[in-house]
Amino acid sequence: MAAAIYAGSFDPITNGHLAIIRAGLVAFDRIIVAVLTNPTKSPLFSIEERIAMIEDEFAEDRRVEADCFEGGLLVEYARSKGVNVVLRGLRAVGDFDSELQMATMNRNLAPDVVTVFIMANDYFFVSSTLIKEVASLGGDLTGVVPERVQQRLAVKMAPRAATG
Ligand code: PNS
Repeated sequence: MAAAIYAGSFDPITNGHLAIIRAGLVAFDRIIVAVLTNPTKSPLFSIEERIAMIEDEFAEDRRVEADCFEGGLLVEYARSKGVNVVLRGLRAVGDFDSELQMATMNRNLAPDVVTVFIMANDYFFVSSTLIKEVASLGGDLTGVVPERVQQRLAVKMAPRAATG
């Protein structure tokens, strides 16, 4: 059974991520969405909230599993799961340099682990960082994040709006 790891911060998951996962399911039987707990970043959503948002979107689809990736090397995490494909999304040319670097470093570390890229297509402009900025300024995110994520963003941002 062909499986892939799709790792990232997912703070929060966007429709761009969902499009990559859905496209990935054309090629893979199973995708593990691995949420990185990065102690150097201060995420808006807790690891539990980020996993819950992913699970909400794939409640009906057993091919997608959300997991917590607690640091260390991505290729080691992939091996620990018995998976040798890392799935990455590419938005615009700006992504290419860093993705090439990461994929090549991963190949050096683990030649048995292959990185596969899928184009983000319509969602080339969507990033979690931009989503949080727009949400904090009260912008409408319909169509760029799932409705439930939009609701969670509104709840998170409400106290900030109140305190100015
Ligand atoms: O959401 P992101 O920031 O695009 O995710 C980046 C991620 C998690 C894929 C990347 O930071 C990563 O692979 N981290 C694990 C550390 C690692 O393996 N580093 C060496 C290979 S580049």
